[in-house]
Amino acid sequence: MTSANDDLKALVRTIPDFPKPGIQFRDLTTLLLDAGGFRATIERLVDSVETKVDLVAAIDARGFAIGGAMAEKMGAGLLLIRKDGKLPGATIAEDYALEYGTDRLAMHVDAIAAGSNVVLVDDLIATGGTARAAARLVARAGGHLVGARFIIDLPDLGGSAALRRVGVEAISLMEFP
Ligand code: PRP
Ligand code: ADE
Repeated sequence: MTSANDDLKALVRTIPDFPKPGIQFRDLTTLLLDAGGFRATIERLVDSVETKVDLVAAIDARGFAIGGAMAEKMGAGLLLIRKDGKLPGATIAEDYALEYGTDRLAMHVDAIAAGSNVVLVDDLIATGGTARAAARLVARAGGHLVGARFIIDLPDLGGSAALRRVGVEAISLMEFP
């Protein structure tokens, strides 16, 4: 899918040494600011989901912008998977390691009707720690994960390969080294 999306890739800005030295930060805010680029991004991600889904599970925080727009177009509900400590009801949580640090994701324990088809959405996959934690939450809550979608894959960090190893179909619009 990579070469087909070079128009969108050109709208992503790279900021060196953020948030710490050595990280090449792939900044999607410039893609989202471009009306045509944002629309095409959502359309292409939606077109890549071939199974009928009940819920789009979007990951805090940049995943919300992508997943929300996708859910509306797909006629699906929107499940917010949040950084721990933000949700008011009873939650389940999973810890994970990031490219730069550690964190914990949570979701409402009653958010998924048993057997619902769920697609996971985030802006970017790097080590895959975040997406795998979210996938574990969806499974624990009784959802059937039909796949995961990202705008950007950083394949050198191994996250998309790790997701595929645990049986999750992972598709991204573009890759960066
Ligand atoms: C970024 C990105 C993904 C995650 C990918 O989020 O939006 O969620 O990192 O990294 P991984 O594949 O190595 O887990 P971040 O934790 O920076 O939070 P934000 O969306 O709130 O900026
Ligand atoms: N999240 C994790 N790694 C990242 C990177 N290199 N650029 C943007 N977001 C990220």
